[in-house]
Amino acid sequence: MKRVFIAETVKHLDKKVRVCGWVNSRRDHGGIVFLDLRDMTGVIQVVCKPESIKDVKDEYVLAIEGTIGKRPPKMINKELVTGEIELKADKIELLAESDAVPFDLRDLKLKLPTLLDYRPLTLRGEKVKAIFKVTEQVINSFRKTMKELGFTEFQAPSIVPVATEGGAEVFHIDYFDYDAYLAQSPQLYKQIMVGVFERAFTIAHAYRAEPSVTTRHLTEYISLDAEMGFISSWEELLDTCQTIVYNIISDVSQECVQECKLFGVNLHKPNNPIPRLKMRDAQEIILEMTGRDNRKEADLEPDDEKEICKWAEEKHNSEFVFITHYPTSKRPFYTFPDPENPEYTLSFDLLYKGLEIVTGGQRINDYKQLQKNIVKWGNDIKNFTFYLQAFKYGMPPEGGFALGSERIVKQMLNLESIKEASIFPRDMTRIDQRLANLQPKRAKSKDKKKK
Ligand code: 4AD
Repeated sequence: MKRVFIAETVKHLDKKVRVCGWVNSRRDHGGIVFLDLRDMTGVIQVVCKPESIKDVKDEYVLAIEGTIGKRPPKMINKELVTGEIELKADKIELLAESDAVPFDLRDLKLKLPTLLDYRPLTLRGEKVKAIFKVTEQVINSFRKTMKELGFTEFQAPSIVPVATEGGAEVFHIDYFDYDAYLAQSPQLYKQIMVGVFERAFTIAHAYRAEPSVTTRHLTEYISLDAEMGFISSWEELLDTCQTIVYNIISDVSQECVQECKLFGVNLHKPNNPIPRLKMRDAQEIILEMTGRDNRKEADLEPDDEKEICKWAEEKHNSEFVFITHYPTSKRPFYTFPDPENPEYTLSFDLLYKGLEIVTGGQRINDYKQLQKNIVKWGNDIKNFTFYLQAFKYGMPPEGGFALGSERIVKQMLNLESIKEASIFPRDMTRIDQRLANLQPKRAKSKDKKKK
């Protein structure tokens, strides 16, 4: 008999069907047992005879044949698509057994480390799974908007010869007898691709050797990167970024209704325009609001980001705020200096509910100026000759930005830690398992690279 998906069973009233799935829960009521069976489309109540499912426990995998009938009125569950029906089982086939599940998957109240230690299992929990349905939608929506705006998708490499976003947070790898790195971002490649497609985007894995464990850093994250040529002004980048974020929020609120409900969130679309504020002006506001004088700092601290978001919320009723004109000294070599004051750059961050989710800006497209900056930033120009070809042979005014997928999901669903928004999170202490449990620390040897 052909399998019917659980959500489709409502169309088979009084008919025989075969469904397959995992046991979500089991309730024994004397002469009768109720199973909730789960597949990728939903959950159905199955009525069984006790002798037919003697040892069956949560997460057993079953194929069940039987007849779809109406539930008694008292047992109707309006929350479920299949809430008015049930399956009366005739034949139960065991496809796989399960060990006893060490916690209630339907109501996970685990501390984060335990939740992650059991990731292959806890991902099955409804609320955990929902985070990654939202992530999927964020990525779909980014891709859809990029294509609508005429951007072409390309695949960026993960093994790279140079660090792009500053040297300290880069993972070194042994590449045969040479040095190589895991890409901190697809920055140089998306810029190269402007010379090819004018507008290019990529959904890339980015790697950062973040030396601390925080609620907003991962060592591997998904970077939604866009880059465009022939910009009329750097502000076109902010407009494009705003369109993308607007579409992401609207698509998630439309397509992930159930998922948002599970987290009790009601997403607010960004205002048009999102408020824009120079970094130095933000620091003045923070001083006024809190008495904290950070005006000599070259960046906003995490607390400052929270504070300025409070201001945006109160003054502009906006959960988003663009902070612009970061100091040149704090931005990578490729960032375009503000012609009105070259100590600052035509760059921006987008903050959402207290956290930076996007960084972007105009880039230096002049070949000679870029060469000078690479050296000024302490790099060996030889390592950049490949990238520089894109500028040597004609590059229009251009710029772009990158959105951290886990960060936007964290903020949308009000998650406490970014690790909850990463399907298999990596940080200083964990690659799947806790590193301390896995293997002794390797001794650092100078000769390691030479085999
Ligand atoms: O601010 P970042 O480092 O900027 C770049 O990578 C530039 N190449 C972007 C550009 O186009 N100019 O990173 C961009 C975004 C951040 O705003 C944040 O959302 C996310 O990537 N991000 C991280 N997410 C999780 N863990 C980390 N360690 C992250 N580092 C950056």
